Amino acid sequence: MRGSVAPGTVVLVTGGARGIGAGLSRYLAAQGAAVVTADVVEPAGDAAGPDITHLQADVSDESSWRQLVAAVLDRHGHVDALVNNAAIYQGLGAKRPFTDITVEEWDRVMAVNTRGVWLGMRAVHPVMQAQGRGRVVNIASSTVHMGVPYFAHYTASKGAVIALTRSVAREVGRDGITVNAIAPGLVETDATRALNDPDYLAASAGRRAVPRPMEPGDLAPVVSFLCSEGSGFITGQTLIVDGGVTFS
Ligand SMILES: NC(=O)c1ccc[n+]([C@@H]2O[C@H](COP(=O)([O-])OP(=O)(O)OC[C@H]3O[C@@H](n4cnc5c(N)ncnc54)[C@H](O)[C@@H]3O)[C@@H](O)[C@H]2O)c1
Repeated sequence: MRGSVAPGTVVLVTGGARGIGAGLSRYLAAQGAAVVTADVVEPAGDAAGPDITHLQADVSDESSWRQLVAAVLDRHGHVDALVNNAAIYQGLGAKRPFTDITVEEWDRVMAVNTRGVWLGMRAVHPVMQAQGRGRVVNIASSTVHMGVPYFAHYTASKGAVIALTRSVAREVGRDGITVNAIAPGLVETDATRALNDPDYLAASAGRRAVPRPMEPGDLAPVVSFLCSEGSGFITGQTLIVDGGVTFS
C-alpha cells in the first residue's frame, strides 16, 4: 500500500525505548518495517520485539549519531526513514514559570529536543542523498500552537523543530528526501500521567472536536504515511494530530 510504510523499509526511531516512540516502533514493525530504535535507556518490557533492533545513542551527541548511522548501515545497508522522536519530556518535571527555568535546564532541553533533531537529519542526509530517497518525520508538539504556559523551554524547543523542518525540507527536496513534522496533542502515556493531574487530562480530552483521550495509536498511522512512498509530494509541513483542538 503506497500510503503505509512498505515492508522492508528501514526506519530509525529515536527515543524508541518507551512511551510514544515504543508504540510507533511496534506499529511500524507490525507493518513489516525493519525498525531500529535508538535511546539513552534500554527498552522497557514489551517495547522490544523480534523485528526491532535497539541501539544505545544520545541524540544530543554528534559522535553518537555517527556510530548510530554506521551501525544501522552495517546491519541493513540503507536508512529509508528517520523518526526524530526523542526528547526531554518526562524528565522535565513540574511545569513552572519561565522565570524559574535555569540556564542549565534551558540548554539541556535545547540540546536534546532541537539540536538532536538537527544532528539526526545531518547524520542521515549523506546516506539518503546517495540513495536518492528518504523520509524524515520530526515529532514536534501542539503546545507550540496552543502557547502552553509554564513550559517555555519545551515549547521553544518544539517551535524550533517546526522551523528546522521547513528550512531543511527546502534544501533536500531535490534529493528525493521529504521532511515533515507531526505536532501531537496531549497523548496519554506514562510521561503525561506523571506530568499532569487526572483532571487536566480529562479537561484536555473534553476540549477536542473528537472528545476522547489521545493514544499513541492515533499517531502511528500518520507516521507510517509520512514514511511511505505515497507521501512523496508532501514536505515542510506540520501535521497537527490532536483530535481537533488547534486548527492551523
Ligand atoms: N506525551 C505527549 O503528550 C506528547 C505530546 C506532544 C509531543 N510529544 C513528543 O512526543 C515524543 C515522545 O514523547 P513521550 O511522551 O513518549 O515522552 P517520554 O519522555 O516518555 O519518551 C521520550 C524518549 O526519549 C528518550 N530520550 C531522552 N533523551 C534522549 C537522548 N538524549 N537521546 C536519545 N533518547 C533520549 C527517553 O529515554 C525516552 O525513551 C517527544 O518528542 C515528545 O516531546 C509528546
